[in-house]
Order: sequence, then structure tokens, then C-alpha cells
Amino acid sequence: MNTDQLRELLPITRDRIYMNTGWAGPTPTTSLRRMAETLEQEALVGPASARGVALDREANRAAAAAAAGLLGAAEDDVILTHSTREGVNVVIYGMDWKPGDELLICDLEHPALTTPAKVVAERMGVSVKSAPIATMSTFDESLNLVKSEMTDRTKLVALSHIQFTCGLRLPIGEITEAAHAAGVPVLVDGAQSVGQIAVNVTDLGCDFYTMSGQKWPMGPVGTGALYVNPDRRDMLEPLFSTNALEAERVGFRRGALGRFSLVSNSPGLAACLTESLRIISEIGIDRIEAHAMNLGNMLRHRASMIKGCELLSTTDQESACGLVTLGLDGWPPEDLVSTLQDRFNIVGRTVHGPDGVRFSTHYFNTASEVDKVAEVLERLAAEGYRAQG
Ligand SMILES: Cc1ncc(COP(=O)(O)O)c(C=O)c1O
Repeated sequence: MNTDQLRELLPITRDRIYMNTGWAGPTPTTSLRRMAETLEQEALVGPASARGVALDREANRAAAAAAAGLLGAAEDDVILTHSTREGVNVVIYGMDWKPGDELLICDLEHPALTTPAKVVAERMGVSVKSAPIATMSTFDESLNLVKSEMTDRTKLVALSHIQFTCGLRLPIGEITEAAHAAGVPVLVDGAQSVGQIAVNVTDLGCDFYTMSGQKWPMGPVGTGALYVNPDRRDMLEPLFSTNALEAERVGFRRGALGRFSLVSNSPGLAACLTESLRIISEIGIDRIEAHAMNLGNMLRHRASMIKGCELLSTTDQESACGLVTLGLDGWPPEDLVSTLQDRFNIVGRTVHGPDGVRFSTHYFNTASEVDKVAEVLERLAAEGYRAQG
């Protein structure tokens, strides 16, 4: 499937430059149809009939299998969740924290991670350390900082594979190796990586890896998945009790991993996600990664040529990706985002720390869209900022 064919499935691309996949990607029409068909079928056979229950199980199994395929994991090591943050919570609250234990994160993390970190600090006396990784760090600098912040009290290292504000990519394989050498497991927030870059949790040696369905995989909101390395399952206790706990005592088929499934997932959402993941796999994640990176490089290059435009994302090719953050002299990021949307039909988003506007370049975006964004930025930089309203 080429870019034009994917755009055919995404009506938004007809009249808008959508560069906000890092928040939520558009959902292909074929995926939406799968959702509607599955829900209609469920209603037709009866959701709580034998056929309805079988349909529900199969839709959820297929989605978990597709997510496992994209993560490079065995099907039995992945559960469906409803978001990245659910996976983070399952791991962070599932651990047996003692006062004085250390949780190591970094300064650029998303609230999905910093918030549970604050809660375990308050409730359980965990000491949260934050590695001061800068937005323009190289792989080596990020790795060395994480290593230097680890102590013999570190109980978990938790980091995003790609940082959401500026698109900085971390050397997760090398960080995991260093953490494992010290006997410390690693939780990876894959909200910005899965569906954008090739991820293989087996090759990376990951312990816990959590992903969203609605961002780069272009699935629906309310979907996600969590990988738990089978050797680490015993480290966690379920966040709250579910029927799966009961079932486990009588030989729950999926073994202990099912203990971490919190609440059931809609078969409609699951079927929609499965179709979107099928599309990702039909295109090929390596092609998506290369396309996202090329367009990201184009935008970084164009932005760096604009007078009054500050590029806030690294150009280092190991650490960069298809997330590009920038600022325009004098323009508050919120006003720049609304001007881009209202006057030019360009959708990006505001980020803070660094403060700027972030653009996501996915496989459905094109070089001419990047040109248009760059032209508009140039024009707005030249116009200068005038207070809105
Ligand atoms: C790095 C990162 N982690 C977590 C999240 C939250 O994702 P979800 O809504 O799937 O929990 C986001 C969303 O923007 C993110 O960028």
C-alpha cells in the first residue's frame, strides 16, 4: 500500500494537513467499517449468547495477536489494554515498593508516567529520580545520563522510547542492557514509537512495554496493549481484582498474564484496531519509519532555514524521528496552533518543556504537505504575532 492508497482510506487528508498523529491518528475507513460490522454482528447474535461470547473472545484475541506481531512478542505475552497509560499503571502500581526504593525516569516524560511516579512517591515513600536528559541529547549522552542516575536502590527504570514533546528517541536496547547488568527491570512507554518505528521487544530485551492503539497505529481511542516478559510476571500483583483472578485458580488458559487485564475490551474497538494494525503490517513498519523520518528531516531542514523559527527537535539521525517541534519568534504556541488550524487547515499541537508546536509526519503525510507547512510558517514568521481577538 502506498501513501496515496492510504490517503484514500483517510478522508481527512482531502481538505486538511493532519500532523497530529502523536496525539491521535486518523482511523482508516476500512477499520471503521470493521468496527460497525462487528458491533452489528454482536447485536444480531446477542452479546451474551454463546455466539456473541465467541465473537467477543475472537475479536479480542485477534487484536492482541496483531499487537504482539507489531511488538515482536509471543501472543501469550501481550494483553489488550485501553491505553498506554493503563499499561504504565499496571506495572508501576503492580510492583512491591518499599520506602526508599528508587524509580528512575527522565525530565522529558509524559504525565502518563510522571503522575503514577508522584503517587507511589507520596503513598509508598518511593524516591523518584529524574535523569536530566536534554531535548537535543545524542544516544550516548542519554545512555550515560541514565546509567549515572542508577544506584543500588533503583528498582525500576521507566522511560518513553520516544519523548512526546520533542521527538527525542532513546537507546532503549542499550539502556535495558545497562539496567539488566545492575539487575533492574525496565518499563518502556511506547506511545510514540509503536506504529512509527520498528520495535522488537524480544531483540530489545524488554521487561514491560506499553503502547497505544489510537496514535501511530491509527486504531480507535480506547485501545492499547501491554507486553510483559514472562520472566517478570511474578514481579507484579494485579492493580485490582478481576474475574481473571478467579479463573486463574481454576486454570485460566492464558496463565498469569490474564491477571493484569483490568476490564473487558469492546469487540468493536478490538476489530477496528486489528484492521488498522493489518494496514500497518501491509505497508511495513520499516517503510513507515523511513517515510516518517524523511518527512521529519525535510521539515526540520525547512524550519531551520526560516528566519525567526527555532527548531526544538534534534537533527541527530539516531535520536530524531517523525515528531518535529518548533517555535516562531513572538508567537505563543497556543495561538500558533489555532492560527494554523483556523486559517490554513493545518493540525499540529502545543507542547510544553520545550514550549512549541509539534508536528507528526506519518506515512499518509506527503512532501508537498511539508512544503505547505514550511511556507505557512515562513509567512507567519514574516507577519509577526499580533494578539488574537
Ligand atoms: C509518551 C506518551 N505516553 C503516554 C501517552 C498517553 O497515551 P494514552 O492516552 O494511550 O494513555 C502519550 C500521549 O500523548 C504519550 O505521548
